[in-house]
Amino acid sequence: MRNEFLSSEGPYLAIIGLALTAWLLRKHPWERTTYLNTMWLLVLGVAGQLAGLALQALEFTRAGVGIHAAFSIVAAIALIRIGGFAVFRLLLPLAGRQLPRIIEDLTIIVAYVIYALSQMRFLGVDLTSIIATSAVITAVLAFAMQDTLGNVLGGLALQLDNSVQVGDWIRVDDLTGRVRDIRWRSTLIETRAWETVVIPNSVLMKAKFSILGRREGEPRLWRRSLVFAVDPRVPPARVIATVESALNETAIANVARRPEPSCVLYAFEQGNLRYVLRYWLIDMLEDDLTDSAVRVHLFAALQRAGMRVAEPQAVAHVVPRDEAHAENVRQRDLERRLNMLRAVDLFSPLTDNERAVIAERLQYAPFARGDSVTRQGDAAHWLYVIAFGEAEVRYEPGAGQPRIVGTLSAGQFFGEMGLLTGEPRNATVVAKTDLECYRLDKASFQGLLLSRPEIADEVSRVVSSRRPDIELARREAASAALHFETLSQPDLVERIRRFFGMRRNR
Ligand code: CMP
Repeated sequence: MRNEFLSSEGPYLAIIGLALTAWLLRKHPWERTTYLNTMWLLVLGVAGQLAGLALQALEFTRAGVGIHAAFSIVAAIALIRIGGFAVFRLLLPLAGRQLPRIIEDLTIIVAYVIYALSQMRFLGVDLTSIIATSAVITAVLAFAMQDTLGNVLGGLALQLDNSVQVGDWIRVDDLTGRVRDIRWRSTLIETRAWETVVIPNSVLMKAKFSILGRREGEPRLWRRSLVFAVDPRVPPARVIATVESALNETAIANVARRPEPSCVLYAFEQGNLRYVLRYWLIDMLEDDLTDSAVRVHLFAALQRAGMRVAEPQAVAHVVPRDEAHAENVRQRDLERRLNMLRAVDLFSPLTDNERAVIAERLQYAPFARGDSVTRQGDAAHWLYVIAFGEAEVRYEPGAGQPRIVGTLSAGQFFGEMGLLTGEPRNATVVAKTDLECYRLDKASFQGLLLSRPEIADEVSRVVSSRRPDIELARREAASAALHFETLSQPDLVERIRRFFGMRRNR
């Protein structure tokens, strides 16, 4: 046996081993016990070797050599283990690879065997007889440990045929979770409810299980299906078009843009039409949360289009009192609209009767956070009044990032620029929070301006205060090609009057 610990690579290896242990302890403090045990083994090995050398120096040569040899094996075992940890738990994760423990264990065992064989060869042991004996022992052990071996081989097979990998989301019977690790005996599955389920590998080998969102050659996406019902009086093509265009226009966190969300008519049920909205989920951990976000957008889109999510229908005998009830509901809704209108400065010159006429014409238009209310460049059809929430006004240059030119909140209005002058929308208005608006069609707004021209003055004042921000954004975006005419307030009033064919009355 060589007694070279102090003279050759031994001290360096020990220092590297200790440094790696320190790194491992920092990276995975929860596996502290394993690392510390291995480190103590290394320290013991080094101390034993030093003791062996000391004995040799004191002329106890035989004992010294024996002790040194025995403890160098202890140190080697510890070093191989630390080396294995370092490769599988530090270096491979740095390179973006996370291999299961079973592979790490196997590699370390193979390293032990190679080390043992090389030591034996060095000692001049006949390896052929050892291999023959160990084959017999292995056969006896295999017979005695059939169950355990079933699990172990199951684990190996799962690894080798690549059917399951660490990080995959799988469903076994009614259990769904992410594969945390594949170990010798079992596979660990972490569920969304923060449970860790231990499944024996032999069960996984025999059972049918699904790997969520995995398809050869495709990105990892999982299709979700959200069911909703709509009154059969609404034509299915309209429902499908409304839902698909709303969902395709909006970027919702964790929802894949491709394949696009799609809506299908799924069943006729209890007097309603049942639809399914399918979308592709990116992070499978957030299934319920993303379902909920998609449902919020779906619900708002249906409401905007005047389609109600239907409840099961039944035949009922209508008694006259129902009409009174319906009138009551209508009155309450009108009162709500009137209250909202009273809080809008623009309508302050109106009398209560005039306000009631406007209130009747308003259309309820809710939006979910992130929805576009108007798009820059689109034709203008509506004036929007915010009843609840906040909206962000974005100028979108042809190329480059959009610029935020204003924020609007309850009591404010927007969409007046395009509506008044006939020009396309100057900016995109996006719901910054969930947003409730009422919108007034162009003809009604025109009627209002004809009967109350002073409102045109107020609108033009607001336009004049908003326009410089848009112009600044435009200039900053260096899209000088689109030369925007700066209009003074009186010019603007004149232009509005011309567009609506109004005569001067002041
Ligand atoms: P319109 O051009 O029809 O559509 C986009 C709307 O955004 C625009 O009308 C205004 O109502 C609104 N808008 C434009 N610029 C601003 C701004 N600087 N501050 C607040 N709202 C604005």
